[in-house]
Amino acid sequence: MLDFLGDLKRTHMCGELRASDAGSKVVLMGWVNKRRDLGNLIFLDLRDRSGITQVVITADAGAEVHDRATAVRSEFVVAGIGHAKLREPNTVNKNIPTGEIEVIADELRILNDCKPLPFSPSDTVLANEEVRLKYRYIDLRRPELHRNIELRHQVAIAIRDHLNSQGFYEIETPFMTRSTPEGARDYLVPSRVYPGEFYALPQSPQLFKQILMISGFDKYFQIVRCFRDEDLRADRQPEFTQIDLEISFPRPETVFRVVEGFLKAAFSTIGVELQTPFPQMSYDQAIRLYGIDKPDLRLPAMVDVRDAFAAENLETLHVDSELPIVAIVIPRVGELSRKERDEIKTMFGDRKDGKVFEDIKRLEKSFPDAVAKIRDIARPHAEDLVVVVAGAKRTEAANAVKSRQQAYGVYSAAGQLRLALGQKYAERHGAYKHGNFRLLWVTDFPMFEWDEAEQRWNAAHHPFTSPHEQDMDKLESDPGAARALAYDVVLNGTELGSGSIRIHRQDIQAKIFKALGMSPEEQQARFGFFLEALQYGTPPHGGIALGLDRIVMILAGAESLREVIPFPKTAKAVDLMVDAPTPVSERQLKELGIAVRKIETSN
Ligand code: AMO
Repeated sequence: MLDFLGDLKRTHMCGELRASDAGSKVVLMGWVNKRRDLGNLIFLDLRDRSGITQVVITADAGAEVHDRATAVRSEFVVAGIGHAKLREPNTVNKNIPTGEIEVIADELRILNDCKPLPFSPSDTVLANEEVRLKYRYIDLRRPELHRNIELRHQVAIAIRDHLNSQGFYEIETPFMTRSTPEGARDYLVPSRVYPGEFYALPQSPQLFKQILMISGFDKYFQIVRCFRDEDLRADRQPEFTQIDLEISFPRPETVFRVVEGFLKAAFSTIGVELQTPFPQMSYDQAIRLYGIDKPDLRLPAMVDVRDAFAAENLETLHVDSELPIVAIVIPRVGELSRKERDEIKTMFGDRKDGKVFEDIKRLEKSFPDAVAKIRDIARPHAEDLVVVVAGAKRTEAANAVKSRQQAYGVYSAAGQLRLALGQKYAERHGAYKHGNFRLLWVTDFPMFEWDEAEQRWNAAHHPFTSPHEQDMDKLESDPGAARALAYDVVLNGTELGSGSIRIHRQDIQAKIFKALGMSPEEQQARFGFFLEALQYGTPPHGGIALGLDRIVMILAGAESLREVIPFPKTAKAVDLMVDAPTPVSERQLKELGIAVRKIETSN
């Protein structure tokens, strides 16, 4: 017995009514969140995106209305027509904003029914994620996901408004294009008109935004979908959204101030006022102080305690005197149990590049002077945990490049341990509580990373990133030491965004390709159109892209990107709702000139 909507008009949303509305005639429409049947009296909790109102069907409503209310089940779509009434004081529901009133129905229309549900959006214990992703439309009814999607909207609008106010144009760039330089695998789109040829979906609008600067647009932005076929983690999706921007004639600080401005606007949507400008730290400092290029500033930096040890101490401890020795200080942990000390060793793993000395209190007996000096340098409080990480004694001589890598190896081992310890211990002290947002800029990344497997240098950011003006001569003599005008914006240990000042001169671009060992033929094949464009009056320019999904995830306090993306893919890049990817028909393949070969996969 489904009813038509007819000319019935909704008067209020389900989260809108307050005590002051008592007596008003109301028409509410929504989903039945819960139904309680007490015989004469039936309660329907009616839900829409704004909230929930209790609709009451009393015996006075008559048999027909009562029958309808009896037939209703969870997630039926109904219209409740009646009047708002103050609840008796002892039945007021303080947990919902509409809790002081209820709607006494004189009419009920069942606008649609609902099959038995695989799970209920009002369940407090969540169903298995695969089931929820298959029935995403039901899962999306959960108030929590509604809040996340609304927050995403607010954040995007705040960023757009801010960038518009700063004179940026939002300009669309193509989705059907060719490979871009980010270095993940491309998703390919076959061309029917040119069998055997493919478009690539963009990994980012990188080259287009640079071309927009060549065309004189000066300030560009786009909130844009990007596509990358890469191994997925909790903070990665195969299609994700970037806040992408590019500016002509900038210094890095020009980009920083713009990003700080729109992040301030984004964070204000949850009532957080960010302090700007964000602190700034070079890549080298970040590695030395935090052992990682995306430092989490919520815990203290590591401290260089090399000077605390006398040469003979280092011999006894089998520690390399040329490699770094750092102390990790974790606040207010107190005495460690034996089990916890074993855990530290497990967290550190069997890394060959570093040695770990858990808790200096235990070093104290044999090395009282060294520990006294460590205390002097690191200045821990009595209750703090202090762990020392040093480089294991090397057996082979190393050149400068190797030594730099080994030193970074020690810092990085210590950095990982610092995070693991921090997670474990600081959680109970509230150091990770939602709302403690510590942003910073990491600058001066290296230009190149050494690819051990391929025995060559790779671009650390992408090959259009400008080297430091002072480091031009190092591009050939010591590529590993050449710094880039590249920067990341980092929040609580997560990279939010990454960008650089670009190369705008053909002569410098040629040097970079040479350092990367890219032949003229390969340059031409991959980026020919762009290299040509660069020669027609390119202004100095630079920019950045931030992950919108990551920003919203952090603002929402969510654990995974899937909680802030309306229709996400699984960790195996599958859309369980529409069931994609899928095979296509022989006819489609034939038209595209494609023959499919079976290949063994690990999935
Ligand atoms: P990059 O590749 O560092 O730089 O990407 C910029 C930001 O995009 C987000 N991001 C992702 N988010 C979710 N899932 C993914 N798979 C994913 N990959 C990247 C991250 C990251 O910091 N064109 C350059 C930017 C520039 O130089 O202007 C670029 O794309 O938050």
